[in-house]
Amino acid sequence: MGERVHILIAGGHGQVGQALAHAVWPEEVRLHRPTRTDLDLTSEAALAEAFARTPFAAVVNAAAFTAVDAAEAQPDEAFVANAEVPARLAEATRRAGIPLVHISTDCVFDGALDRPYAENDATAPISVYGASKLAGEVAVLSGNPRAAVVRTAWVVSARGRNFVRTILDAAASRSELPVVADVVGSPTSADDLAGALVTLSLAMVAAPSAPTGVYHCVNAGEASWAGLAAETLRLAGSRTTVVPIPAADRPAPAPRPANSRLSCERLARDYGVTMRDWRLAVADIVAELQRQRVAP
Ligand SMILES: NC(=O)c1ccc[n+]([C@@H]2O[C@H](COP(=O)([O-])OP(=O)(O)OC[C@H]3O[C@@H](n4cnc5c(N)ncnc54)[C@H](OP(=O)(O)O)[C@@H]3O)[C@@H](O)[C@H]2O)c1
Repeated sequence: MGERVHILIAGGHGQVGQALAHAVWPEEVRLHRPTRTDLDLTSEAALAEAFARTPFAAVVNAAAFTAVDAAEAQPDEAFVANAEVPARLAEATRRAGIPLVHISTDCVFDGALDRPYAENDATAPISVYGASKLAGEVAVLSGNPRAAVVRTAWVVSARGRNFVRTILDAAASRSELPVVADVVGSPTSADDLAGALVTLSLAMVAAPSAPTGVYHCVNAGEASWAGLAAETLRLAGSRTTVVPIPAADRPAPAPRPANSRLSCERLARDYGVTMRDWRLAVADIVAELQRQRVAP
């Protein structure tokens, strides 16, 4: 067997972190997924100790303050997790001379564009969460020359809390569900995203000259929340129907971009990664959730 390749997954127990743990990695890769108590990402000393203990070949940062509405009232916490932690990881990985793959979000955009966002479209966050994630992107890209920022959106999976699970749970007790129909985005399977992150991080480990910068990674196609809900219910064989409503009827503390579609051409061009249609991904998730429900 060749030498071990140690990869640190920060936030390795969140929705995307768990998908990274379930992804297919080469046999020589050893993933390290410390919990918050194992490794305090906000502590420079704790990070330095972790790096001194293990010769990491790369870091994938899936840690974040992801409570978009709560961030409006907790900006300090959001900026610590979404900007300061990435800055520390950028510094630690730069010193170690290794790549950093950092996950970001469609919420760095204001959503006013009438087409899918490209990587170089102007950012203009409209929420504290979006502003904190944008600050994290800047910190990562300026802190380590071997860094990739991977923006994703509308992440769903058979693990953790997410829209698909919420819809199926709600449908169990209701015949009609009001769902926002005038916000469009790119639903994304955490597992499909994890597969792309595996390819990207291994390529960056293998070649110090591998392309860097911002990448978009979402499943192909687009949907409104109402469309995603309807497809989820159809796949589950549910008789519950979706009642389309405008976003204005469901006010939330944090505004969301009305257009969250992301174009993934750069990832295909630089790393040969193409993402399947979101409907195929959601079909797998619904099937997995149904398997979990019938399992003893
Ligand atoms: N979910 C989406 O729809 C979506 C959309 C676009 C982009 N993203 C991005 O995708 C990435 C992963 O999101 P996710 O859906 O997997 O989120 P998640 O399920 O909320 O997981 C985030 C993880 O980060 C950890 N974390 C937060 N602050 C930390 C800290 N200070 N120290 C150590 N760990 C910390 C959390 O630990 P605890 O459980 O202990 O809090 C949790 O395990 C994030 O960068 C997010 O911005 C997500």
